[in-house]
Amino acid sequence: MQGPSIYEKIRAAVSEIQSRSSIQPKIGMILGSGLGPIADQCTDAVKLNYSDIPYFHGTSVEGHAGKMILGNFEGVPVVFLQGRFHVYEGYPMEDVVLPTRVLCALGIETLILTNAAGGINTRFQPCDLMVIRDHINLMGNNPLKGPNLSELGPRFPDMTEAYDSKCIEILKNTAAEINLPLQEGVYAGVLGPTYETPAEVRMLRTLGADAVGMSTVPESIAANHLGVQVVGISAITNLAAGISHQKLTHEEVMESSELTAKKMTSLLKNAIPRLVHERGNE
Ligand code: HPA
Repeated sequence: MQGPSIYEKIRAAVSEIQSRSSIQPKIGMILGSGLGPIADQCTDAVKLNYSDIPYFHGTSVEGHAGKMILGNFEGVPVVFLQGRFHVYEGYPMEDVVLPTRVLCALGIETLILTNAAGGINTRFQPCDLMVIRDHINLMGNNPLKGPNLSELGPRFPDMTEAYDSKCIEILKNTAAEINLPLQEGVYAGVLGPTYETPAEVRMLRTLGADAVGMSTVPESIAANHLGVQVVGISAITNLAAGISHQKLTHEEVMESSELTAKKMTSLLKNAIPRLVHERGNE
């Protein structure tokens, strides 16, 4: 017997979520490693465990809680995901991007993708924030592989502006106004789960990458397919392998992203209302 289609999975998840909360979110956000606490700033919050949402898996990575939070953030109706599914965990791409597709199907105008990343650009310091200008997909996979789901979007989606340039301007202006240094650059998405070798980091720099991480790219592709504008922000948790002579650990990444979460929270508190009013469809 054939299992449910992707479309049916999205519909089942959306109807469960809408039965728990009447919020009509304008902004969706996926919170990367250690960045989950940002969602604590939501008011009137309804929290759902991923296990309550049809077809969502539990999360297996420390620092990824596995909760959906619907609420108001600085007066803006939002939906936040604490925890994401990674390709390196062994999930099929279809499952990795299901939460993204569900957020988009809830009617959001903008998807904000956050992540922890290693800094490749030698001007970057640990705990910097980087707004993603563009990405390089080095995962060897694509969530749109297979028959195209024409209800979701076109066979060959344009990726010229995978990260909305007007949203990038809003983030940069906001950061400048609150005196928060904000880097800008290209995010290379790799499969992981190993961190890179120093030779790989040199290769990534030659390719034009400023930061490297193991997420975000599939979600960005799935949202672009659906025509939802995407914003990406990386927490530079460490210098990529070989730049400093220190070995990389997940603990270091978690520690820095917790520190960076404070900066990310103040940037988003100021930027989210502006993203809605200056870039939204109102
Ligand atoms: N490489 C890949 N992914 C990462 C890193 C890194 O250095 N830091 C945080 N996520």
